[in-house]
Amino acid sequence: MSMTPLIGREDVRRRVEACLRAGRNVLLEGPVGVGKTHLALAIAERLALPLFRVDGDGRYSEQKFSGWFDPPTVIERGYGPEAFLPGPLVEAMTTGGLLLVNEINRLPEGVQNVLLPAIDERLVVVPRLGSIRAREGFRVIATQNPSEFVATSHLSEALLDRFELVALGYQSEAEERAIVLAHLTAGKLGDAERRSLAAAAVAIARATRNDPRIRRGASVRAAIAIAEIAAALHDDGTALATAIEEATEIALPTRIEIARDFGDESDAAAATVVVAELARTAATQIGEAPKKVRP
Ligand SMILES: Nc1ncnc2c1ncn2[C@@H]1O[C@H](COP(=O)(O)OP(=O)(O)OP(=O)(O)O)[C@@H](O)[C@H]1O
Ligand SMILES: [Mg+2]
Repeated sequence: MSMTPLIGREDVRRRVEACLRAGRNVLLEGPVGVGKTHLALAIAERLALPLFRVDGDGRYSEQKFSGWFDPPTVIERGYGPEAFLPGPLVEAMTTGGLLLVNEINRLPEGVQNVLLPAIDERLVVVPRLGSIRAREGFRVIATQNPSEFVATSHLSEALLDRFELVALGYQSEAEERAIVLAHLTAGKLGDAERRSLAAAAVAIARATRNDPRIRRGASVRAAIAIAEIAAALHDDGTALATAIEEATEIALPTRIEIARDFGDESDAAAATVVVAELARTAATQIGEAPKKVRP
């Protein structure tokens, strides 16, 4: 999969790369959709490090993490290296690569515990196979959302103690516009329209972050979604102002969390009100933006 380039983030990139050069493992912490995974992927690509990826979820198993035995091969030839299918941890260790553990705090404790000796002693023990050593270069980049944003489990203290923390906040408005623009393919949009669409989508996402009625605002991922959906609606003949209004109604509700004490309506009703209001504001903004002059 080809990736859009890394926009901005010089400072955190510098810090993360220094940690990796110093032989350290990094924990990237920041709100949902702020760009943690993107940064990790971009760094792996920049440093040309082989990358292995794990996406943390509550059912991820230790076997899946380190590796497992292929049953048919085991029946034919017994337990041995030929029957062993390495998981991302063993692959990263044996190639001296980078292991990206997304949402590390969602991994079950058992899986988190496998990481401890891998980091400390650079060793993982696979039952029936023996111990596997890490090659020079093996590092871990983990990501997590700060616990106030999502109800997830915490990282064990022991594991935290083995990571350096690099925190990611939201990027500047100009950088967020550039990110959204990079995701917007031309389609039927003129250059000026693409720019005003990106600007409006970013303005909506940013507005959700300082709205007292909203507990958790939207990230640049929401702005990308709004812009892409609006562009697709526009391609199909919908006027741009209407397209962004509709796109906001579609893309925003799943990405914001309404403050508990807002009004006396149910959360869903409150969200609808807030979203509709933001959507209309966006439509007005686009309506006023300079239109592309068609020859
Ligand atoms: N600096 C950036 N340059 C280019 N694209 C970016 C940048 N930051 C974020 N993006 C884009 O924004 C979207 C969200 O980023 P990403 O998935 O990395 O967020 P995240 O912090 O990992 O989210 P989550 O907490 O949900 O895992 C992606 O489409 C990504 O490509
Ligand atoms: Mg991510």
